[in-house]
Amino acid sequence: MTGPLNSWPYPRVVAHRGGGTLAPENTLAGIETGAGLGLKMVEFDAKLSSDNVVFLLHDDTVDRTSDGFGEAATMPYAILSSLDAGKWRSPRFAGERMPTLEQVAKRCIALGLAANVEIKPCPGRDVETGKLVAAEAERLWSGQQIAPLLSSFSYDALAAARDAAPDLPRGMLYEAVPANWREQTSALGCVSLHADHNRLSEALVAQIRAAGLHMLVYTVNDPQRARQLAQWGVDAICTDRIDLIGASFFDA
Ligand code: G3P
Ligand code: MG
Repeated sequence: MTGPLNSWPYPRVVAHRGGGTLAPENTLAGIETGAGLGLKMVEFDAKLSSDNVVFLLHDDTVDRTSDGFGEAATMPYAILSSLDAGKWRSPRFAGERMPTLEQVAKRCIALGLAANVEIKPCPGRDVETGKLVAAEAERLWSGQQIAPLLSSFSYDALAAARDAAPDLPRGMLYEAVPANWREQTSALGCVSLHADHNRLSEALVAQIRAAGLHMLVYTVNDPQRARQLAQWGVDAICTDRIDLIGASFFDA
């Protein structure tokens, strides 16, 4: 597959999990922290509660990032939203919640932030999560100039997202890019390929770009490495260190 690059309206710096390491991940406080530093795009992780509310959480369990315990897939959103998702990071974030995608979309739109919605299904819920996250994203960002960029490590989730909301842009997400990346991204109609920067070479970036795909890489916290990746042709850097790699980092 060799072709012209798809349109790509996204900024070059993306705050990882909302506000990187400066705020509790996947919270409204994180998103506000990034916006306060001038960031123009955020990445966050979306999954389903037991009653199919799309909300933000990275892990399968709530243990690490809240004051609760247990598998998120077994909890209705009423329970999830009663947990504190901020004070594990710092007492000053006490009272933060695991927000719904609806709350997040409204905040991103109000703050002028583009969004990378990473579909992060609970175990065994790939298809329904891809379908419901994509449908919800399409509804919530309807009429906005810049569509949310959907991504996932789960091929099945991204395929379900493609079927539910074909017009939303998609990026296949990899740790190490597999040999069949051309087939997978082509079948999914991806505009981009997202990958762990530690597993990339300059030659592989060149091949991916030559195939007509944009590239977002995670999680790049060293400014020198960010510059090198940009020189290789990577389009967007997802970073925890929005204090070091800010919105205008590549303008200088
Ligand atoms: O989408 C890029 C990055 O967020 C993937 O890794 O584990 O932080 O969701 P993870
Ligand atoms: Mg993520």
